[in-house]
Amino acid sequence: MTIPSVFTKVDSLQRVLHARNDNKKIALVPTMGALHHGHMELVRRAFELADLVVVSIFINPKQFNKEEDLEKYPKMLEKDLELLRKEGDVIVFNPEVSEIYPKNYEAMKLDLGPIATTMEGEFRPGHFDGVVMVVNRLFEIVLPDYALFGLKDFQQLTVINKLVKDKNISVEIIGIETVRETSGLASSSRNYRLSADQMEDAAVIYKALQTAKNEAEKSSIAELKLLVENMIGSSPLELEYFEIVDPVSLQSIDNWVENTQACIACICGGVRLIDNIQLT
Ligand code: PAJ
Repeated sequence: MTIPSVFTKVDSLQRVLHARNDNKKIALVPTMGALHHGHMELVRRAFELADLVVVSIFINPKQFNKEEDLEKYPKMLEKDLELLRKEGDVIVFNPEVSEIYPKNYEAMKLDLGPIATTMEGEFRPGHFDGVVMVVNRLFEIVLPDYALFGLKDFQQLTVINKLVKDKNISVEIIGIETVRETSGLASSSRNYRLSADQMEDAAVIYKALQTAKNEAEKSSIAELKLLVENMIGSSPLELEYFEIVDPVSLQSIDNWVENTQACIACICGGVRLIDNIQLT
């Protein structure tokens, strides 16, 4: 059984990467811990691509706009390490906040434009600035050849692609399909906060997305939005947004385009859940 090497300091992580990296490819899987099947899929794919796999476990305070959300974020390092142990010789980076953002650290600024002001950006102001800040910092520290992100956070992936393009960062971004529970509910660290009943209730999210996919192009976008709003409205969940968007600009559209994307955010028992599906 392999025991993951856990590094808490930038220096010691970089030393081991340097020592082991003799022309080896490095893949980075950034996470906030409370690992689940979705994260594990990213780790497995990382091992297919690279010789060294770094999994960062860091709850990034800069991307939480609500103190309560940050405080309630699930933390289970021991269980995370146990899961990672099964995947092979993972290098875990689990730093303190002061290690990621030292006193004199000057955060990189990037104008993300309209892709970051809709949906998650609208409901969680400043969220993507925080995501970009930490991911850029992790790229600086690890210098990965590949970095893997889930399509479950479709808007986040779009933002990361913009970061890499605009800042000319030499890393290949790999997007991984959403991993789901048997009910269809997207695996998420936030699911750890749901009761068994709430887990069942939350399955309506994927049912609604699938219904939308089945009806796409047969209905107008306005009709489809109403359909999903009604499905969620007649469930115990509260709908925060359901948007049908252009897959590149992430702006709402009135007519179908190629690869039209639907994104949803709901509250289930006080827990915020997001998901998305490609409609066309
Ligand atoms: P976290 O929510 O821990 O997710 C880490 C990575 O796992 C993200 O790329 C996310 O899209 C992916 N992921 C989560 N659930 C998934 C699922 N069901 N199927 C496939 N992939 C899934 O996203 C973050 O952390 C943070 O914003 C981070 C990028 C680490 C920056 O702090």
